[in-house]
Amino acid sequence: MRGNPIVTLTGVTRRFRRGGETVTALADVSLEIYPGEVTVAAGPSGSGKTTLLSVIAGLERADSGAVQTHEPLPAGVPTGSLAWRQLAFVPQALALLDELTVRENVELPAILDPPGAGSPALLEALEIAHLADRYPSQASGGEQQRTALGRALRLRPALLVADEPTGHQDRGRVGLVLNVLRQHAYSGAAVLISSHDEAVIAAADRVVTLADGRIVADHQARSAGYIR
Ligand SMILES: Nc1ncnc2c1ncn2[C@@H]1O[C@H](COP(=O)(O)OP(=O)(O)OP(=O)(O)O)[C@@H](O)[C@H]1O
Ligand SMILES: [Mg+2]
Repeated sequence: MRGNPIVTLTGVTRRFRRGGETVTALADVSLEIYPGEVTVAAGPSGSGKTTLLSVIAGLERADSGAVQTHEPLPAGVPTGSLAWRQLAFVPQALALLDELTVRENVELPAILDPPGAGSPALLEALEIAHLADRYPSQASGGEQQRTALGRALRLRPALLVADEPTGHQDRGRVGLVLNVLRQHAYSGAAVLISSHDEAVIAAADRVVTLADGRIVADHQARSAGYIR
């Protein structure tokens, strides 16, 4: 059972100026995101996935239309001003702090909003415990990406938005990351990610497909199984 959505988009349009032309990155998108499931935004390069996630996370404004929050998020608050424990965003570029170790990066939100559950289990689950005392520059791209996910999950946010969170993972770790995301969703959070990866799309609870800034398909999986 789905219950109530945590975020609703109504007729959201987002345009960018590029030189003399206007690009419509999102065109009249209406969408509801639900807790308890992993929703994947799919679609070809340039279809609007990053823009959709950025508008939902409040990093980009909509030119028209509305993004509305619902319980357990506070109502009437722009998503860009929500606390980390309410909404966490993982950008494609990760934005790790180079001066902090892997462990310190994951712990960073807990400094702002202590304490929550400890991170050792999270480090283990993401297979980064063995490099917790290294700096991001001493970790692989995939390890850095899992560190950014650990940071986002640290406060168990009600809504997790992650842009291509498996983009740097090998096949085995795609399954690992997805299972961590699913555990978070099945604990009652909403998880929205973007992906090109067929393994991620096949294992999602719901796939929203974009083309030229429009939603062209919205499929709910009949049953979701863990991928390995
Ligand atoms: N800051 C920007 N300025 C101008 N155009 C932009 C900007 N950001 C996105 N666009 C354009 O908006 C459209 C949607 O881009 P978006 O990054 O959302 O696509 P995407 O589906 O995430 O693609 P990818 O799979 O390559 O990451 C594209 O045509 C892109 O060129
Ligand atoms: Mg993108």
